[in-house]
Amino acid sequence: MGNFKHYQSELVTLYIDDAIKRMKKLEKESVDMIFADPPYYLSNNGITVKSGKMVSVNKAEWDVSKGVLEDFKFHKKWIKAAHRLLKPNGTLWISGTYHSIYLCGHALQENGYKILNDIAWFKPNGAPNISCRYFTASHETLLWSAKSPNSKHTFNYESMKYNRWEEDVFKKEAKQMRSVWCIPTPGPSEKKSGKHPTQKPLALLERVILASTQEGDTVLDPFNGSGTTGIAALKLGRKYVGIDNKTEYLDITVKRIQDIIK
Ligand SMILES: C[S@@+](CC[C@H](N)C(=O)[O-])C[C@H]1O[C@@H](n2cnc3c(N)ncnc32)[C@H](O)[C@@H]1O
Repeated sequence: MGNFKHYQSELVTLYIDDAIKRMKKLEKESVDMIFADPPYYLSNNGITVKSGKMVSVNKAEWDVSKGVLEDFKFHKKWIKAAHRLLKPNGTLWISGTYHSIYLCGHALQENGYKILNDIAWFKPNGAPNISCRYFTASHETLLWSAKSPNSKHTFNYESMKYNRWEEDVFKKEAKQMRSVWCIPTPGPSEKKSGKHPTQKPLALLERVILASTQEGDTVLDPFNGSGTTGIAALKLGRKYVGIDNKTEYLDITVKRIQDIIK
C-alpha cells in the first residue's frame, strides 16, 4: 500500500514509518487522545527471571539508550509533534519507568501540557529481582496530560467511579478510582497473534480509553507495537491511527484486528 499505509479500514489506519516524521505529516489538531508507549531505553544488558529461567532484560535494539541527552532529545521531539496533533481539549498518555518517565515529564512541562495524573500501574505478577540488592520493580508510571491548562479534557468520571476491574485491596472501599491500578501483564491469550517484547495488557488500554475518550473519538498511538491501543479502541467504538517502524509488529496488529472483527 502506498503513502506508508500498512493497513486501512473504516476505523483503523496503520502507518509503517518513523513516529516523528509521520506525526509531523498528519493533520494538525485532528486527534482526541494519544496513548504513547515509547522505548523506555532500559535494555542495558541486565539479567532478570522469566518462567524460572535467567534471561537478559534486553528487549530489542530500539530499546537501547543512546545516552541521557540523546534520549531526552527524542522524547522532546515526539512530545512536541504530539502537541500539534491534539485537538485543544485532547489529552496525552505516556507510559514509562524511571529510565524514561522523568525525561518525558520534563518535556511535557516544556511543551505547555498540563499534567493531570501520574498513575502507578502495579503489576502483581512482575518478575522477581534475582540480585536481591534492590526492591523488586513491579510498577510502571502513566502520565496523563491535557494539551494546555485551558483544555476542557474528557474524564468519564461515572465509568471510572467503581473499580470494576480491580482484583486488589482497594476493590471494596474505593468509590472514586484511585491512581494505583492493579493489572497483570498480558498472558498467552493476548499473544496468540505473535509476540512483542513489551506488549501492554488490553485491560490497561481499555481503562485508559474508557476514562478519557468518547465513542467515535480518534485515538493515536505513535509507538503502535503489537497494536494493543488499537484493539482496545476498536472494541470500544473509537477510531484508531497507529504508527510503528517495524513491519513485523504491524503484521501482529493486523492479525489481532482480524481476530476481533471476524
Ligand atoms: C514499547 S513498544 C510499544 C508496545 C505496544 N504498546 C504494545 O502493546 O505492543 C515501542 C514500539 O515503538 C516502536 N518504535 C521505536 N522507535 C520508533 C520510531 N522512531 N518510530 C516508530 N516506531 C518506533 C518499536 O518498534 C516498538 O514496537
